[in-house]
Amino acid sequence: MTRILHLSDLHFGTLEPGIEGKALALAKHLRPDATVISGDMTQRARAEQFRQAQAFAAKLPQPVLAVPGNHDAPLYNLFQRLTAPYAGFARTFGAELEPCLHIPGAVLQGVNTADPYAWKRGRLRTGSLARMQQNFAAAPAEYWRVAVLHHAPVPAADNTPADIADAPRALRDLGQTGAQIVLSGHTHMPHWGMAETAQGMLFVQVGTAISTRRKTEANDIGLLELDPWGVTLRTWLALPGQDFREGPQARFRYEGQHWVKEG
Ligand SMILES: [Fe+2]
Repeated sequence: MTRILHLSDLHFGTLEPGIEGKALALAKHLRPDATVISGDMTQRARAEQFRQAQAFAAKLPQPVLAVPGNHDAPLYNLFQRLTAPYAGFARTFGAELEPCLHIPGAVLQGVNTADPYAWKRGRLRTGSLARMQQNFAAAPAEYWRVAVLHHAPVPAADNTPADIADAPRALRDLGQTGAQIVLSGHTHMPHWGMAETAQGMLFVQVGTAISTRRKTEANDIGLLELDPWGVTLRTWLALPGQDFREGPQARFRYEGQHWVKEG
């Protein structure tokens, strides 16, 4: 079994008091094969916020795959936003904004969907799609293909439309890369596979792991347990001031090109 821990929208600068240690303790206890952070490491892309996010990520179970979110480019420093939007992210999380990670049983491809020319909306670039398709095609046939994006081309849990340029096209293009599972954040609302589409992909959105910028009552962290037949999505929720407790889970079976929810 391959186990992937999924956190998102850390938003350092707006942390829920006392939650950092609880999230790290949970992550260590779960002992995943890899940890994914699907964007928005910081609230305002400040150097100190990146430093704190990096220190947190270094204590998570390794390897860690992180991608930028719209909050990881400076909002008020327009010059930097347009000339070197991800300099702060690159200094702390590495120059590769679209890392590819192989772990036993899965290949994970990071995608930078943040767009410094938009306020918060994302976009899926042609180059990202090509890289993803190439890396997925080169991976062993039995490996799961997992894409990690900040913005997903599907609606949020409350049916808010996808916050990405030309979502129907982005969804179609993503489906042609070979991606089977798509992990994302941005909505601050967990959405455990309910946005499964006909494109053969299972979309898994999580909320904010440790920030006060919740749109639901709890912070949440997800865990994917992948086996040759499908995936079990597990989740842990923390109400303000409380520990993380295991929440709902769902099981999806992969039937060669499409997903079926079990139970
Ligand atoms: Fe966010």
